[in-house]
Amino acid sequence: MLRTNFFNHIAQTSPSPMALEISHGKGNYLFDIHGKKYLDLIAGISVSNVGHGNSEVVQAIKDQADKHLHTLVYGEHIQNPQVELARFISDSLPAPIDQVFFVNSGSEAIEGAMKLAKRATGRFEIVSCHSAYHGSSHGALSLNGDEYFKRNFRPLLPGIRQIHYGSFSDLELISGKTACVIIETVQGEAGIKVACKEYFKALRNQCDRVGALLILDEIQTGFGRTGKFWGFEKLEIVPDVVVMAKGMGGGMPLGGFAASRELMEKLKSNPVLGHITTFGGHPVCCAASLAAGKFIFNHHLLEQVMEKELLFFQLLKHPEILEIRSAGLMMGVELGSFDKVLKVISYGLENGILTDWFLHCNTALRIAPPLTISKDEIHLACQTILEGLN
Ligand SMILES: Cc1ncc(COP(=O)(O)O)c(C=O)c1O
Repeated sequence: MLRTNFFNHIAQTSPSPMALEISHGKGNYLFDIHGKKYLDLIAGISVSNVGHGNSEVVQAIKDQADKHLHTLVYGEHIQNPQVELARFISDSLPAPIDQVFFVNSGSEAIEGAMKLAKRATGRFEIVSCHSAYHGSSHGALSLNGDEYFKRNFRPLLPGIRQIHYGSFSDLELISGKTACVIIETVQGEAGIKVACKEYFKALRNQCDRVGALLILDEIQTGFGRTGKFWGFEKLEIVPDVVVMAKGMGGGMPLGGFAASRELMEKLKSNPVLGHITTFGGHPVCCAASLAAGKFIFNHHLLEQVMEKELLFFQLLKHPEILEIRSAGLMMGVELGSFDKVLKVISYGLENGILTDWFLHCNTALRIAPPLTISKDEIHLACQTILEGLN
């Protein structure tokens, strides 16, 4: 019945949804209505960084729900969970970034950051990368790198210019006309592409030279995924704007962009209410986010990421694996064909592990488990993947 209603009444986004009938989630596992458990290797696409049903996050949600839910559009009332979270996030970021604008999702956060760059520079050209993914709203879609997902929705935003991720020579395309460069710290949906520190330093220099803002999309990388709280901590640069969502909410819908007070001031005049959203920074989501953020530090999850990443590398040895690309617990296991990826995914589903491919790279297997995954669970996951490959 539930299944029938799902197909009848939930608008679908693909011809063949996975359609697992979820009963509940606990720790690193999801359970279906038949009691079968699945080790979650994708964490709702880098969302459940602190695991499913995390007791500290759930308690924070309950406590806040008992106090109040929505009160008034974002930015009007002083709400304790929002203020505390903004303070926590500001403390985690380098100066001069000290303010957060809360929204509801990653795409929305990207929209806000784009508008901020236009207001701050008076320019409208935006530079993004080939194979980038920044979201599905019109503005965010305009930035994306994959033509297949864009072509039937044109016209999109004018003035978008694309560079190749990691290409030093393409940096010359960033000019005095550019309002901002929006770039993922690690390209996620491209199948995990990492660019070197020197590249990001050169990018920072070029932005400074021409007066463009550097906006880092930390939507997948933020909140500990790479083994640092923010992915860019490894890059020795300070961006102008940091965009966040996904893992930030601890399983609740929340996004945001952070910048200096000086930049954020632009959104409060000419026009006043330069960016607004009814539910942005919902108090229950903020309470969950703060609990998730504190959990990451209090339980030393960042310190464990590298060791766990290494274990995956040690165990995933198979002639069918062409390459493993990774940034902490954000990994792409390259198999070279979609067919092989599908076979491993369906073998995994039969045998209780949940994996996926990437939006812009269907030849690699996605591995992005909750950061709380144990070593035994990594052994189990890798054994199942290797069996699937056999
Ligand atoms: C790097 C990146 N940016 C932006 C987004 C869009 O976030 P949302 O789906 O919350 O709109 C995503 C989502 O996958 C993402 O991975």
